[in-house]
Amino acid sequence: MKALLLCGGSGTRLRPFTHTQPKALLPLAHQPILFHILNTLAATTIREVVIIIGPNGKPIVELLRKTNPWGFDFTFVDQPIPLGLAHTVLLAREALGNAPFLMHLGDNILDEPLRPLVNRFVCEKPDALLLLRRVKNPRHFGVARVDGKNVVQVEEKPRAPQSNLALVGVYLFSPAIHQAVRAISPSPRGELEITDAIQQLITEGKDVTHHLLSGWWKDTGTVTDLLAANQYLMKKLTPTVAGEVKKSTVKGVLRVAEGATLKNCQVRGPVTIGAGCRISGSTLGPYLAVGDGAEITDCHLSHTLVFAGAQLKGATLCNSIIGERVRIQGQQKTATARSLLVGADAVLEL
Ligand code: TTP
Repeated sequence: MKALLLCGGSGTRLRPFTHTQPKALLPLAHQPILFHILNTLAATTIREVVIIIGPNGKPIVELLRKTNPWGFDFTFVDQPIPLGLAHTVLLAREALGNAPFLMHLGDNILDEPLRPLVNRFVCEKPDALLLLRRVKNPRHFGVARVDGKNVVQVEEKPRAPQSNLALVGVYLFSPAIHQAVRAISPSPRGELEITDAIQQLITEGKDVTHHLLSGWWKDTGTVTDLLAANQYLMKKLTPTVAGEVKKSTVKGVLRVAEGATLKNCQVRGPVTIGAGCRISGSTLGPYLAVGDGAEITDCHLSHTLVFAGAQLKGATLCNSIIGERVRIQGQQKTATARSLLVGADAVLEL
């Protein structure tokens, strides 16, 4: 069994951050989204991972060539234009060979072990095993209609959904999917839809089954979802202080990486501080994740992601994402917290 991990796409809903970084590398709870996914995959029997790389995906290749604590055998496949999820299966045909595979969207995170699903798939050998989750707003998702164990219909973002069962961004396929993706045509939005390929399997009478997910799942495609996912993942952090904490009060979980210093701060965890950060005179957290090498002075920050190398002075922020190397100079007196989304290298005076 192999994995197909989709890290192409444009990530338009996460601009400006996806102008400078592929979505899969955006850090949540101090780890790229991609690493959260690879951690989950590492607990299955899968060892070979095919990764779809979009036009801005070079940093993914570079990072995984340097960092591979999971011992995966990676193959990278370029997708110059994001022509749809089923298009990635077409492109990965050679790399996947005749192996069954688990397809995982590069922006979906699940808090459910995948190992039992992989084992079930290997054991029962259906042509597709879909993960489904009950949702309140099925019109925003691919939607499945089921009859017992069988999936009898799938539709992409239907106007009149036949059920409230959404397709989660993890699918297990037999090699039968390769023929199905060749049989479909682009949808009105110009993409080869994986739901159309699955519907093709169903129409051909293939065995398409499902697993109903009960645990936490997040599609991190929007800023709101990204911050919510960060919040969920940060709740699971355990405290470790490798750096220095001086004259500060700490409540809740605090992680301080090596070489970082915190001075005269009030911390309300969970808070995670990257390597080499310099932080002083600030109120931090809850749900604050700061990337490596950031400098923060006289700030109040909560429910916020601060990316590597940012410099913040006198800012009061919540529900914010501050890009890499951003510089913000604020007025310490402003009591009301602002919510800011600031792309890499921007310089702001508040
Ligand atoms: P989407 O969220 O549907 O698309 P996107 O990432 O381009 O974002 P946006 O809609 O904001 O522009 O993609 C889901 C996942 O699949 C994501 O991890 C990117 C990946 N993907 C590909 O690898 N190739 C593709 O052709 C598409 C459409 C998505």
